[in-house]
Order: sequence, then structure tokens, then C-alpha cells
Amino acid sequence: MIEIRSCQGFDELEACVQLQIETWGYDESDVIPRKTFLVAQTIGGQVMGAFDTDLSGSTPKTLVGFVFSLPGVKTGAGQPKPYLHSHMLAVKEAYRNRGLGTQLKLEQRREALSRGIRYMEWTFDPLEIKNAFLNIHRLGAIVRSYRLDFYGVSSSRLQAGLPTDRLLAEWRLDSPRVEAALEGRPALAQSIEERIQVPAQIYDWKTSQAGRERALAVQLENRQKFQQAFSQGLAVVGFSRDTEGNGVFELGFPTQAELD
Ligand SMILES: CC(C)(COP(=O)(O)OP(=O)(O)OC[C@H]1O[C@@H](n2cnc3c(N)ncnc32)[C@H](O)[C@@H]1OP(=O)(O)O)[C@@H](O)C(=O)NCCC(=O)NCCS
Repeated sequence: MIEIRSCQGFDELEACVQLQIETWGYDESDVIPRKTFLVAQTIGGQVMGAFDTDLSGSTPKTLVGFVFSLPGVKTGAGQPKPYLHSHMLAVKEAYRNRGLGTQLKLEQRREALSRGIRYMEWTFDPLEIKNAFLNIHRLGAIVRSYRLDFYGVSSSRLQAGLPTDRLLAEWRLDSPRVEAALEGRPALAQSIEERIQVPAQIYDWKTSQAGRERALAVQLENRQKFQQAFSQGLAVVGFSRDTEGNGVFELGFPTQAELD
């Protein structure tokens, strides 16, 4: 049995820090310390854990996943609006692909809506096919912006020394689009104007020096395609994988209903 709930107390927050290190292999300069998790909770952010209660109940030792967000404020036309920036989502390797990542995001959404917060965003690596599938297809986020080398140099094992380019996922928590995605229904009918591919081999390429050059070439080519598409007003509105596991970003012009 998996229990999903807010983390409480120093030991549970420390367990999140340890899972963070296990997942990304960060060195000291990149790791987010327990104190920051605590501050995030104190100021209206979220630190939620997935606990395997079959191990020995719901304790810091049974933490198998966590999600972490910080509160933010959007300014511009109209009243300032509170939102959440989700900064990390991790599930222990042995527990992946069983729906825990999705459940943690759903708990973030439920809790945010219970406080009247209707918008969340986060960045993700455009080369990570699985994350794109989860964010766009499963959760119904859309993307309209590309952040070039967003974090600068990173010690993340998953980054493999490549520039930290990121897409910005926009999650409108109670929108018809998100509700449709969560119910497994197709999103609003929309014509696809452009497709951007990520080869399934990208994961292997990142693990060797020779392969890294190929991964970098894909990153640079796709960077240009995304930037050009976004400058024309296109958005990522769909994501699919083919039978070989290649990922395909599907871009179209978002309707006003998708941006409200
Ligand atoms: C990203 C992560 C949190 C997802 O957690 P998870 O518990 O495995 O996620 P879920 O099981 O809820 O959903 C994953 C979906 O991706 C699918 N998937 C798995 N491998 C995939 C691949 N190579 N390509 C595309 N989709 C893939 C799964 O089948 C599942 O979809 P389904 O529900 O239709 O079967 C986890 O893989 C992880 O910790 N990764 C390392 C850290 C990271 O990248 N975090 C996110 C950025 S901050």
C-alpha cells in the first residue's frame, strides 16, 4: 500500500533530501537542503511524500517518492495571482512506472485547489521523453516557452553534462483540458502544425562520451525548432510515443480556453 501525504518533521524532510541525492546524484553545490524544504512548507509551498506502508508503516524510512513546490506570484494585468512552482518530483527507481509520480502530482493539484490556487508550473528537460509524456499527455500541461541553459552548469547525473535547457510546463489545474487529460479523454480537438521528435536512444547516448555528442546535436536542433515555433505563437499541446519509444512533441495554436 502506498500512502501519499504531506511530509512532517525533520526526519521526513531529511528523507526527501536523501532521495533527491539518490535520484540526481547532486554534489553539495546543487543539493537543496532540509531547511529549504521546511521554509517552502512554512510559506505555502508543498513537500509531499509517497510512503510504502507495507515496509514498516508510514515513516521517514519508507519514503519512496516526493514532490516539492514553492509559492509564487504572477503579476501583470489585473490582480496579482498566487501560483505554485513545482521544483522536484522523484520516485525511487524500484517504484517507477506504477503511477506514483502521477499520484504525487494529483495530490499537489488537489491540495492547491483546496486553497484556491488554480495554476502550477515547472520546468522539465526536453530530452526526457518519459517526463514529457507524463507532463503533457497524462497531466494535460501545455508548453509555450523554452529556457536556454536555465540552471547553468549542473552536477545532475541525468543531465550528463549537457546544457540545462528546459521547457516550462503550464498546468491550469481546473481547466477542461486538464480534466480531460486526467480522465484519459482526448484534449480539445486541435490541428497539429508541427512535430518535434526525440529519439528513444537519447537515454543511451547520454551515458557515453561519443553518444553525448549525438545527444547534444539533438538538443541544439530541437532548441532551434522549439524557439522558432514558440515565437510564432505555437504551443506544445500533445505528446505521443511511437512503437519504438521515440517521443513526439505535437505543437498547435492554443485556443483561448486553454490559456484561461
Ligand atoms: C519522472 C518520475 C518522477 C516519474 O515517476 P513514475 O512513478 O515512474 O511515474 P508514473 O508511473 O506515474 O508515470 C510514468 C508514465 O511514463 C510512462 N513511461 C515510462 N517509461 C517511458 C518512456 N521511456 N517514454 C515515455 N513514457 C514512459 C509510463 O508508462 C507511465 O505512463 P502510463 O501511466 O501511461 O503507463 C520518475 O521516473 C523519476 O523519479 N525520474 C527521475 C527524476 C526526474 O526526472 N524527475 C522529474 C523532473 S523534476
